[in-house]
Amino acid sequence: MLDEIKKIESLEELQSLYTSVFGKNGTMTAKLKTMATLSNDERAALNTENTELRQAFKMRQTELEHAALNAKLSGEYVDVTLDTEPKNHGTLHPLTETLSQIGAILESLGYTMWTGPEVEDDWHNFTALNTPSYHPARDMQDSFFLDNGNVLRTQTSAIQIRAMEGAGVPIKMFGVGRTYRKEMDATHSPMFGQIEGLYVDKTDRHITMSDLVATIRTMLERYFERKLEMRIRPSYFPFTEPSIEIDIKWNGDKWLEIAGAGMVHPNVLRNCGINPDEYQGFAFGFGWDRIAMLKFGLNDIRKFYDGDIRWLKNSGF
Ligand code: PHE
Repeated sequence: MLDEIKKIESLEELQSLYTSVFGKNGTMTAKLKTMATLSNDERAALNTENTELRQAFKMRQTELEHAALNAKLSGEYVDVTLDTEPKNHGTLHPLTETLSQIGAILESLGYTMWTGPEVEDDWHNFTALNTPSYHPARDMQDSFFLDNGNVLRTQTSAIQIRAMEGAGVPIKMFGVGRTYRKEMDATHSPMFGQIEGLYVDKTDRHITMSDLVATIRTMLERYFERKLEMRIRPSYFPFTEPSIEIDIKWNGDKWLEIAGAGMVHPNVLRNCGINPDEYQGFAFGFGWDRIAMLKFGLNDIRKFYDGDIRWLKNSGF
């Protein structure tokens, strides 16, 4: 009987067998009724048999119930490991990445980041930068003028004026932002990014050209993560005197122009209400697209602004 119970495969069958044993007319029910007539040994044996049978039924019932539950659960199973469509994760734009790297370097040198409006007035973009309206240097930058006389910022130098007007001196800042000029080829985009550094302090702090050159060298060498060969050429900007341009040796033989810089022109300080006999300093500016192109070996600046996701993914950033 115990073996028979173990082999039963459904709760219904188990129930009917149980009834045939323990039901009103069941075999065990009948035997139990004879209990009073039995000897002690026989009684003990019957009791054991009774208990074993009840336990066997109970156990098989539990097994069959579990099996039924498992069958039900596995029917409802959701395969969470199923493959899904690959997800496209967003990344920072290469230029944003470049800006944050350069920004981190300049901040580590004690410079604070500033921004300014992309639509600038004449004062901040030109006049305060020692470039009055008759000045031929205005032609150096083919500017986008608005009807009201404002201009799409041609250089982040406008931000150094805002910084000196706003925060006064001493000041150690860098301005970042988009700038606009009428030019367009593989190495020029009408909209491009510039970063501008400015450090002005009391004359007795002796901020000099060599501090300027060392600052630019430190910044570039940290950005490119190697030693660089640098060349300094005399140049001209209305807002610095003397002015220089800085080239770096690239690919072993080519000199590439990388930054414009110089000592802040006394007129610029005066225009910001600063006495040039008490304060002096330097400024430098460069295209941040340009250095990103160099670092990653890209040859067309326009790609940065095309928004082509395939190019962005493969650009090496
Ligand atoms: N504003 C200059 C340019 O756009 C760069 C520059 C910045 C030069 C600061 C000197 C000092 O070419």
